[in-house]
Amino acid sequence: MNPSEVQLDRILSPNSTPLEPFFQNPASQPLRNIGKGQCGSIYPVAEAQDWVIKLPNSSAKHKELRNDYEVHKIAKQAFATMPTSFQSSYPIHIPEVKAWVDASSTQFWETKKQQKTPMEGAKSPITFPTYGLITSHIHPVPPPLRRALIETFHHSALRRAKAQDAFLQIPENEDCLIRVYLGRRRSSTEPEGKLRSLRNYPLHVDQMETLGLDIDMYAKTMGQALAVLHWGAGVDGNDVEFVLGCTSPALNTSASSSTANASTHSHPNPSPQIQSIAIHLLDFNLCTTFPQTAAGLKQLVDAFWWNDPYYPRPNSVDGKDRKLWDVFVGRYLEVSSGFSTRGVDAEAFIEGVVMEGRKRKGIFG
Ligand SMILES: Nc1ncnc2c1ncn2[C@@H]1O[C@H](COP(=O)(O)OP(=O)(O)O)[C@@H](O)[C@H]1O
Ligand SMILES: [Mg+2]
Repeated sequence: MNPSEVQLDRILSPNSTPLEPFFQNPASQPLRNIGKGQCGSIYPVAEAQDWVIKLPNSSAKHKELRNDYEVHKIAKQAFATMPTSFQSSYPIHIPEVKAWVDASSTQFWETKKQQKTPMEGAKSPITFPTYGLITSHIHPVPPPLRRALIETFHHSALRRAKAQDAFLQIPENEDCLIRVYLGRRRSSTEPEGKLRSLRNYPLHVDQMETLGLDIDMYAKTMGQALAVLHWGAGVDGNDVEFVLGCTSPALNTSASSSTANASTHSHPNPSPQIQSIAIHLLDFNLCTTFPQTAAGLKQLVDAFWWNDPYYPRPNSVDGKDRKLWDVFVGRYLEVSSGFSTRGVDAEAFIEGVVMEGRKRKGIFG
């Protein structure tokens, strides 16, 4: 066991001796929220170890959160058993699963059970103990990139440096992960739109072109990941997210800081690790297994179209996007063919996605 595991083992064991409170902020202070979805909200815990906890938004979400934990582990295992060339050619990071906590983890909730103040971002106070999924933290993209996003794409709304500084200093904007939308291109006439937050910033394919990113590499990474989810983990990939984030905390230096007091939430990088931006795959609470039948294939196709537009689309009008779809499909089928007989199913899935795309084009295009 590594030192973190030893500590977790001690905390979660019913007969363990009292330890330092696990939540590092005082019980009277709300935990800092760094992300929220339909199912759960994310809060850093034990920041020194880089862990976050996902707590259910309501008791109705307990089952989904437990599913998140189960599928997350299965997905992690499926990716871990792939040839090392997969990761070296098209790297993707899935947060480490650290622990599942529930009412029996008494030590864990010790400092929180008297909590009276609402959790930041939560509608009503969370009653402790509750359920929680502890994983590793996907760190925000660095301040210079956050600034580049607003200077490049939101210049008319935030023209003045002062306005940009003020926007970047909003604590919420420091938790900036970038959603990779290969399946959506903004039209040149589309108004810039109001930029509300840098959290889960949606980066469209035309913006990636402007930034000169390696879009084909992203398409292959997603194609590979979806194939591993389908035929390695055996799940439909429903509602998963692909985001750009950092693999380690921001260096707390003036060079990496966008403003005088930016990075108030980032902690000094204890080791001289290189902070690299990478694609991360997360959020498994709605993923489920599927039967090897026509209904199962439909489930996969529905999950593809139901998700946010991360994957390239087969029904795009732009020639560049149609090529990107081919790149995605190429890697998806290549990886799928490695799973014994799954190549056939994989082709049926792609056909299903194309057919559905034609219908959608008929309706909308
Ligand atoms: N491990 C993590 N590190 C940092 N931020 C995270 C992490 N997991 C999730 N988030 C952020 O929190 C948001 C909500 O978490 P998510 O798992 O997607 O919840 P839901 O299942 O409710 O959609 C995500 O969109 C992301 O911005
Ligand atoms: Mg989500």
